[in-house]
Amino acid sequence: MSYTNIVLKYLQLNHDYISGEELSRHLNISRTTVWKNINMLREWGYEIQSVTNKGYKLISCPDTINPNEVAADLGTELIGKKIYTYTSIDSTNAQAKREALQGAASGSVFLAEEQLSGKGRLGRTWSSPPSTGLWFSILLRSSLLPLQITNITLLTGLAVCRAIRSYTGLPAFIKWPNDIVINSKKVCGILTEIAAEVDRIEYIVVGIGINVNNASFPQELAVKATSLRIQQNTPISRVGLLQEILRTFDKVIIESKTNSDALLNDYRSLCISLNRKVEFTRNHQTLYGTAVDISPLGELVVSCEDGTAIPINSGEVTVQGIYGQ
Ligand code: BTN
Repeated sequence: MSYTNIVLKYLQLNHDYISGEELSRHLNISRTTVWKNINMLREWGYEIQSVTNKGYKLISCPDTINPNEVAADLGTELIGKKIYTYTSIDSTNAQAKREALQGAASGSVFLAEEQLSGKGRLGRTWSSPPSTGLWFSILLRSSLLPLQITNITLLTGLAVCRAIRSYTGLPAFIKWPNDIVINSKKVCGILTEIAAEVDRIEYIVVGIGINVNNASFPQELAVKATSLRIQQNTPISRVGLLQEILRTFDKVIIESKTNSDALLNDYRSLCISLNRKVEFTRNHQTLYGTAVDISPLGELVVSCEDGTAIPINSGEVTVQGIYGQ
C-alpha cells in the first residue's frame, strides 16, 4: 500500500482531528512525507481540513472513481489488470457479459458510478444511485468444469466480508450465501452469473453492490439496508475499499486452488446464518429449522423440526433476526 493510501486509511479510522506529528509517529514517516501525502489526497479530491494545534480531519471523499487511482499499486496477480469505468450504465453485469463476448480478459473489472437497471438476485432490482456506492462486476474465465466452480459465490462473499472488516473495522458478517450484513442490516449483495456448457465454462461474471456512502435510504429500504458510512459515522473512500476488495478477492481465488478447507472454515466463522432459526421453501412448502453447517459444496445444512438434515443450495432463506434480501 502506498503512503498516500496508508495516510488515507488512518484518517478514515480516526474520526477526530489528528496532528501531523501523531501521523508521522504512528506511520513512522517524516512530517514532510505526511504533508506531501495529504496534498496528494487533496489532489485526488479528498477534502481534508487542517486546523492549527488540532491537525487534520477527513471531511469528504471524492465522488468519482479514477481507474488510474484504483490501478495504482494494486499488486494483484489475477484481478484488476484492466478496469473499465462508466458514468452511467444499465448494469455492470450486463456490460461485463457484453465485453466478455468481445474477448475481454479474465480479471477485468467493470465499474459504474450509477446503474439504471441494477440487477439483484431472484429477479429483483438493485438500487444504485450515483456516486454513493460501489457497483461493479468482475469477469472470470476458467478452465475448470462448471461443477467445480459452485463455490465462487461463497468465495466472493468471504472476500468482500474480509475486506470490509479490514478496511473499516466494522463487524461485517455473511448471511448465506453471500449477502453482507452489519448490525443485522444488509450492506452488500452479490449476483453471480455464469455462461457455460455442460463441460466448459465460457465466462463467470461476479457482480458486487456495496452501499458505501449513502447518507440515508428510502423508507421501504431503511428498515433492512444500511451503508458503511451510516455504520462508521464517517465517509469511506470508495477507491480504497475497492482496492482492498480486489486484493482480497485475488488472494482468495489463488488460495482456493490449494487450501479450500481453510477458506470454508473461515466462511463458517463469518456466517451469521449458522446456529439460527431459518425458514425456507421446498416444493412449494414452507419449512423451518436451524442452520447447522455449510457443506463442502457450499450448501446451507438445515436441521429441520422432524430431525432431518436438508442441504439447501439456492433460493431464499429467511434468517430469524437478520434482514438481507
Ligand atoms: C442481491 O440481490 O443481493 C444482489 C445484488 C447485486 C448488485 C450488483 S451491483 C453490480 C452488479 N451489477 C448488477 O446489475 N448487479 C450487481
